Amino acid sequence: MTHKIFLIIGTRPDAIKMAPVIREIKMQSVLEPIVVATAQHREMLDQVLKVFDIKVDYDLNIMRSNQSLDNITISALDGIAKLLDKYKPSMTVVQGDTTSSFVGGLASFYRKIPIAHVEAGLRTNDLFHPFPEEANRRLLDAISQLLFPPTKIALQNLQAENVPIEKCFITGNTAIDSLMWIINQKKPISIPELEKITSDKSKRIIVITAHRRESFGAPFLEFIAAIRELSKGFPDVLIIYPVHLNPNVDDPVRSGLSGIDNILLPKPLGYADFVTLMNRAYFILTDSGGIQEEAPVLGKPVLVLRDVTERPEAVEAGAAKIVGMHRDKILVESRKLLLDDQEYRKIAQKRFIYGDGKASKRIVKKIMKYLGDS
Ligand code: UD1
Ligand code: UDP
Repeated sequence: MTHKIFLIIGTRPDAIKMAPVIREIKMQSVLEPIVVATAQHREMLDQVLKVFDIKVDYDLNIMRSNQSLDNITISALDGIAKLLDKYKPSMTVVQGDTTSSFVGGLASFYRKIPIAHVEAGLRTNDLFHPFPEEANRRLLDAISQLLFPPTKIALQNLQAENVPIEKCFITGNTAIDSLMWIINQKKPISIPELEKITSDKSKRIIVITAHRRESFGAPFLEFIAAIRELSKGFPDVLIIYPVHLNPNVDDPVRSGLSGIDNILLPKPLGYADFVTLMNRAYFILTDSGGIQEEAPVLGKPVLVLRDVTERPEAVEAGAAKIVGMHRDKILVESRKLLLDDQEYRKIAQKRFIYGDGKASKRIVKKIMKYLGDS
């Protein structure tokens, strides 16, 4: 008997982290994957589908410009519910904490379809940081039958909430599976200008990304001011900031940082190009969850543009530092990395903190066991 497995993706990180799970499921003759993309992200999702060659079975195409959480929830719930009723899968697999993932879980729960949650157990213990992700992942963990915490700390978070231990399996994060896969592909950079910049080793590069909802408005303006100051203080350092397409990010960033000689503001880069850029970076400033996981593997120090992180492992290991969107902290820690070589070298070490690249294999093995096929 084959089991239909729904795999739900919506955003760029969903696709990056689910790609190796989809690939692994495809290799099992007893499992039939059905990939459903809400397309909560459009261009940024399509970039990832292309690089991993993911064939989407159903694309709900829900993205609207400057969409609200309600819009995403209602459109995704309606589309996924219809597909679940049509296919009646044996299991739904979702990852992380995006609204598409949460809604995929919710629609499945309403139909008593078992849910497997990849990247379970991440917590800041602050419902509004990150928002709405902390709520999304808590709600998902509460209704899932199989939970895959990537690390020991994530497992402990689940245990503290009395999630039955027999439902939980530490697997590592599938982000590391994808990172190792893309590095092995050895893809050339697709943008000639970026190729020229990354192959010229004479300049140090700071890579930046930021997009969190809770930082819109005043925190973003403070962060932008800090980056302007940093660029002025270090004219010999190049800052590359691929800007998220959200207008709440794109508008203030472009009006605050355009026209500065040593700042480049490309559109979001394809995953392969972005990994090459990270590899070339001196350090990274980011509020991204996935980049906090990837950067230590590449030995790149991370300054985390948040007040709290659900990924404390890198901070504890000395690979990352929390600076928030605060001008002073951003400047002090950036200057330290740029000026203090000894401090820099302590942080810039390659570390496999979040996984070993085999998380997806472990996940699919447990799914097969749950379904009675191993
Ligand atoms: C979403 C996730 C967040 C994740 C992030 C990864 C939720 C609530 N948020 O946040 O957890 O960290 O993705 O990037 O699930 N847009 C485009 N093209 C795209 C993508 C986005 O134009 O390809 C613009 C649209 O105007 C869209 C807006 O960005 O309405 C916001 O997208 P949305 O998915 O709501 O929020 P993100 O901040 O991307
Ligand atoms: N990423 C990318 N292109 C970019 C910026 C990031 O491919 O221009 C990748 C990055 O390597 C990581 C993922 O996107 O794997 C992180 O996505 P994002 O920061 O949007 O979401 P989060 O991880 O915060 O949910």
